[in-house]
Parts: sequence; C-alpha cells; structure tokens
Amino acid sequence: MNLIDVLIQQHRDAEALFEAWRHAPDEEKPELSLLLAETLTLHSAIEERWVYPVARSVVDGPRIDFAVEEHGEMTQLLSELLRVRHDARRRESTVRQLEAVVAQHMTEEEREVLPRLRKMDASAFGLSSDEIVRSASDARKEAMRQLEVSTPP
Ligand SMILES: [Fe+2]
Ligand SMILES: [Fe+2]
Repeated sequence: MNLIDVLIQQHRDAEALFEAWRHAPDEEKPELSLLLAETLTLHSAIEERWVYPVARSVVDGPRIDFAVEEHGEMTQLLSELLRVRHDARRRESTVRQLEAVVAQHMTEEEREVLPRLRKMDASAFGLSSDEIVRSASDARKEAMRQLEVSTPP
C-alpha cells in the first residue's frame, strides 16, 4: 500500500476509535484510552520521522511547523487522558478536546499536505511503507514510554 494511503487509513482508524468511544461501556474506556494513545502516537511518529521532513520540499515550512505544534497539543492531551483514564468525568472532557484537535488536524493534512505528497516518488521517503510502519512501532513504544513516564498515576 502506498504510504499516503496508509496514513489516510490511519486517520479513518482514529475516527473509528472516537466513534467506538461514544458507544463503549464505561469499563472499557481505560483500555480504549490506551488504544487511542497507541494509535495516535504511532501515526504521529511516522509523520514526524518520515513524512514531514519530505513534505517540507512541497509544502510551506510554516504549515509543517504548525502541524508539528498540533502533534504537540495531541501528545499533551493524550498524556492527560492516560493520567485521568480511570476518572469517568475528566476522561470524557479530555477525549472531547482530543477529538476536536485530531479532527481539525486530519482535515488540514488531507486538504493541504497529503495530496501534494502523492505526486512524489515512493523512494522519496527512503523506506517502503511496510518498513516505515515496522520501524515506527519501535518509535511508538518509546513515545508511549515517555507518555507513561510523564503521567504518574
Ligand atoms: Fe499529523
Ligand atoms: Fe496524519
């Protein structure tokens, strides 16, 4: 699968998790919080390590800087979500904020960043999309470890 299609599929997977959240019983939400954190940190790791550096050659630098800032905002909210995942009221308000940030970010990416990358040769990313997803799962484990470290129980 083309890397851009992988990224768009991950956006749809993230939306599906937020949708699942709305129907999930309370006892599943701590686990769903972890799943959201894993899914979104894997996706951000791929973009920050392999996609955004290449995107800088076809998209304005400030646009990419802003996207990185939004990733920072998501990371903060995910860290907050992990911290409050056993608190029914606080996790709902955190997930609502997170969903708003993620939805806006994905819309902007799909409108302004990803279409321009489609025109690039697959070799521009250095690795195949399978290899990227594999290496990113190591990056995700490290990112999750940092999230857990920054979120004492
Ligand atoms: Fe992104
Ligand atoms: Fe994305």
